[in-house]
Amino acid sequence: MILPPPVNSSLPQTFLCGIWKRLLSHSLREYHVTRRTYSSSSGGHSCLPSTRKQGEVFIGSIVVCHLFIMNESGEANDPKPVRLIVAACRNMGIGLKGNLPWNLPNEFKYFLAKITSVSDPGKKNLIMWGRKSFETFPESLLPLPNTVIALLSKTLRSAPKYVQYICPDVHEIIKLGSTPPLSKEIETIWVLGGAKPYMEMMHHPWCDQIFFTKIMADFECDTFFPVFDKDIFNLAEGFPGIPSGIQEENDITYEFQVYNRNGRNGK
Ligand SMILES: NC(=O)c1ccc[n+]([C@@H]2O[C@H](COP(=O)([O-])OP(=O)(O)OC[C@H]3O[C@@H](n4cnc5c(N)ncnc54)[C@H](OP(=O)(O)O)[C@@H]3O)[C@@H](O)[C@H]2O)c1
Repeated sequence: MILPPPVNSSLPQTFLCGIWKRLLSHSLREYHVTRRTYSSSSGGHSCLPSTRKQGEVFIGSIVVCHLFIMNESGEANDPKPVRLIVAACRNMGIGLKGNLPWNLPNEFKYFLAKITSVSDPGKKNLIMWGRKSFETFPESLLPLPNTVIALLSKTLRSAPKYVQYICPDVHEIIKLGSTPPLSKEIETIWVLGGAKPYMEMMHHPWCDQIFFTKIMADFECDTFFPVFDKDIFNLAEGFPGIPSGIQEENDITYEFQVYNRNGRNGK
């Protein structure tokens, strides 16, 4: 028996119970449908779990079911901090021909450490990744510890190895991570690019921090980090766990920066 999550709402309980009965029957109905035709039954409007074995399919249908309740109430059950992490050079370039324009191994280690660390050892981070950025990530580093990966794609029909979900837009990933059952596991939603996911998520109200590596050099780039409003995101002076001062690698200098939204300083 799957119990409903706590609902923070002023709606009368009887009304909510009615909704839950409807949702449960919808879910059971969905279960029977998806057992037969799951590969095409997600409707293209919610995240497709990577595995399609019976039993797990039911969890998938429950996710769809919870997305439905959130759409009706207009609020998420369990909001999560959303954080962007990026390295950009002087012209705000972040990529060239599908790859990083620079080779900065220590900067890359910092990036990996951030996205895989959790303060609660029982939790994981939800990784939001554009398809192209994921495709150029070294497969030898996968699976990433403490993470659940959700890829943004409207074209992929099955999940690549090590990817748990494929979602058609950023909002579906936010719903996925902030709605049971997955929200119980998730600590932070990390946005790893590319350009469009960064652009969309920096405007999301749950986006409280941008982890920005400022590369003090010029590189030819064809992909760029969007301009962000420094009146909204303020540069933190000294941030716990972030190496301070100018770093240098392969004759390139750079600095780890954190921008907090309107003075919020995260956890
Ligand atoms: N310096 C850094 O920190 C950093 C970080 C990330 C990436 N990069 C670089 O940036 C480049 C890749 O970024 P990119 O902007 O070209 O591509 P991307 O965002 O990684 O991938 C683009 C693809 O992802 C899917 N997608 C992206 N946003 C979506 C959205 N809002 N809704 C639905 N689907 C979405 C689409 O896939 P479908 O076509 O399958 O629908 C789209 O074609 C590479 O050069 C990479 O190395 C650098």
